[in-house]
Parts: sequence; C-alpha cells; structure tokens
Amino acid sequence: MTGRRPAPNGRPVTVPRLGKMKRDGERITMVTAYDATFARLFDEAGIDVLLVGDSLGMVVQGQDSTLPVTVDEVIYHCRAVARGTRRAHVVGDMPFMSWQISAEEALRNAARFLSEGGAQAVKLEGGVDAAATIERIVHAGIPVMGHVGLTPQSVHAMGGFRVQGKTEAAAARVLCDAKAVAEAGAYALVLEGIPTDLAQQITDAIDIPTIGIGAGPHCDGQVLVCYDLLGLTPELKPKFVKRYAEFFEQGVAAARQYSEEVRAGIFPSAEYSFGNVKKSETEAPTPGLSLVHDLRAAYGPKG
Ligand code: KIV
Repeated sequence: MTGRRPAPNGRPVTVPRLGKMKRDGERITMVTAYDATFARLFDEAGIDVLLVGDSLGMVVQGQDSTLPVTVDEVIYHCRAVARGTRRAHVVGDMPFMSWQISAEEALRNAARFLSEGGAQAVKLEGGVDAAATIERIVHAGIPVMGHVGLTPQSVHAMGGFRVQGKTEAAAARVLCDAKAVAEAGAYALVLEGIPTDLAQQITDAIDIPTIGIGAGPHCDGQVLVCYDLLGLTPELKPKFVKRYAEFFEQGVAAARQYSEEVRAGIFPSAEYSFGNVKKSETEAPTPGLSLVHDLRAAYGPKG
C-alpha cells in the first residue's frame, strides 16, 4: 500500500489530461521529487508532474552519474513521493539496465513502479532501440514517458553530458528517435539537451506532449531537477538551469545560527522546553504523550 492522499478537488493529473493540455496549448510543469516533503511542496505549488528521477543517484546519493541507481532504490523513493502527493501525476524513472536485458525483465520492473512504488507511469531513456520494449510495456497497460536527446545513462557512449543533435545528421537521428518513441505508444516525451529549433521541430512532428530540459522554450512543458530549481546544488550552474531559490545558502545560514545558539546556551530557551516536574500527589499528563499527539496532528495522514 503506497498511501497516496486523495486529490483536493477530485482532479488529479492523468495521462489523458496531459495529452489534452498539449492539444489545448496549456504548458505542462514537471519537476523531480525524491521524498514526501518535497512532493507535498511541489503538489501544493500546482506542479503537474513529479518525476522520481534516477538523478537521485547524483543529488541524493552523491554519485558521479546515474548509473549505480537500482530499481529498488527508485521504487523506495517513489513510495515516499506518492505519499506526499495529492494532485500531481507521479512518474518513476527506470534506471540503467532495468529494461534492456529482456522484454520480460523490462515488463516485470515497469510493473513494480506502479504496484510497489505508487507511480502512475514509468519513464525510460531510449529511442529507436527502445521502441519495441515501450510498445510491450504500453500494451500491458503501463503508461510510458520516453526520453531522447541527452540521455544521462549513456554518459560514457556520449563522452560526457553533452548537447545532442547539433549537426544536421545528429538532429535527424534525434528526430527519428522521438518519432519511434511516439509511434511505440509513449504518452509523453522528455527532450533533454538538444538545440531549440530541433525541439520545436519534434514538438510539431509528434502528437504527444514534449517536456524539455535544456531544449528551449518551444516544448509543450518543462522539467527541472528540483535541487537545481531550489538552489541546493551551489557548485553546479549549467546554462539551462534557472534557480528560483537559494536553499543551500539559507540552509547553511540557519544551521550556523542553530549551532551558535546551542554553543552559547541560547537554544533551547523556556519557550522550547517542557518546564519542570510538578510537585503534587496527582499524576500530570505525560508530556511525551501529548507531544506524540501534537506531531500526529501536524504531520500525520489527513482524513
Ligand atoms: O532523472 C532525471 O531527473 C531526469 C530528468 C532530468 C528528466 O531524467
């Protein structure tokens, strides 16, 4: 049981709704999320799609690439995100080698994101080479979001995280990948790290929504890694990232102040303490118990 909370006004974002958004010219917003608290924050902000990306390997685990991330790890984070989400559409990212070995393994893994992770769809990186697998997963009733252009799981084949489709021949290959993924039945397509005009050409050429990251303004939607958007990765400043907050700096300042106050004996003051033991015969209510009740009321599942 994943425990996703009911949508506030009965209108969760669905696969058909995302298709309609493209047809209506309504732009789609997507960010990555890896835990219930961030999921809740983005859901509250009205973000349409939460991607539990394998980027968690880099921003949560501190790895150099997404390659070490496992299916079990993404599913663990999916469950947390699903619990924090009411309205947004939750997508689980299929990590490196989770779909390439065999169609059976791909299908079994894809199914786990929905049945164990509480996601509503999976995403997988790949173009023409992935089309048959996408078709198989879609036929099993599992919505698939594609991902072409700069595909981080192919970092070694690409020789680094490099913009793709820069020459006419390379652009034709990316277009071909995008069409193959759409024809295989994917319901949406991430376009990562490609020239602006190529992203526009793909967006015009296929019926499913394109969601860009480093692909310019002409896609049907945009996605950012949430740690980048919130300014939690201070040493990274790729051209396509706009930081909408400086959480890292604010976090350092807050932690520094806390540590200064603890060292100076300022925190915790009486305001943050439970007072002294009452010197009477009758037993007073256990402070710890009411604290548990207060925490449940503040953070526990809402009815
Ligand atoms: O893993 C991820 O975060 C992604 C996005 C960058 C699209 O695939």
